[in-house]
Amino acid sequence: MDDSELIALAAEAREKAYAPYSGFKVGAALLTADGSVFTGCNIENSSYGLTVCAERVAVMTAVAAGQKEIVKLAVITNNSPPLAPCGACRQVLVEFAPRAEVIAVSTKGESRRWTAAELLPDRPMLLRPPACGIG
Ligand code: THU
Repeated sequence: MDDSELIALAAEAREKAYAPYSGFKVGAALLTADGSVFTGCNIENSSYGLTVCAERVAVMTAVAAGQKEIVKLAVITNNSPPLAPCGACRQVLVEFAPRAEVIAVSTKGESRRWTAAELLPDRPMLLRPPACGIG
């Protein structure tokens, strides 16, 4: 699966976005170590805070299918320059795949790349829950 194929699947997923409030459609597609692809789109809600981003939908879908080894994630919007994932999505992504490659693209074809770890420097790395029970 090359980058352009993954980006095409992210674009296809973007068409399924449910974004009646923002009007801003986002699509994501991720590749896992076994070669599987999982996609996601943003899903908004009239209670705005319940909105879920495309990237997190894709990650949750992969993990729920038993695939935690995320190798690469493509995210596409019509924003120029390409929009980097939000903080919540960065946090969720590094939980599973700090070394994953993240490719943000615009519908115009521009792209930007990072690793997930680069997007979240000094990420929390707990080996077990803290004694205080928080986290
Ligand atoms: N959104 C994403 O899906 N991913 C991001 O990385 C940033 C924002 C969505 C959430 C909301 O539905 C819309 O874009 C506007 O913020």
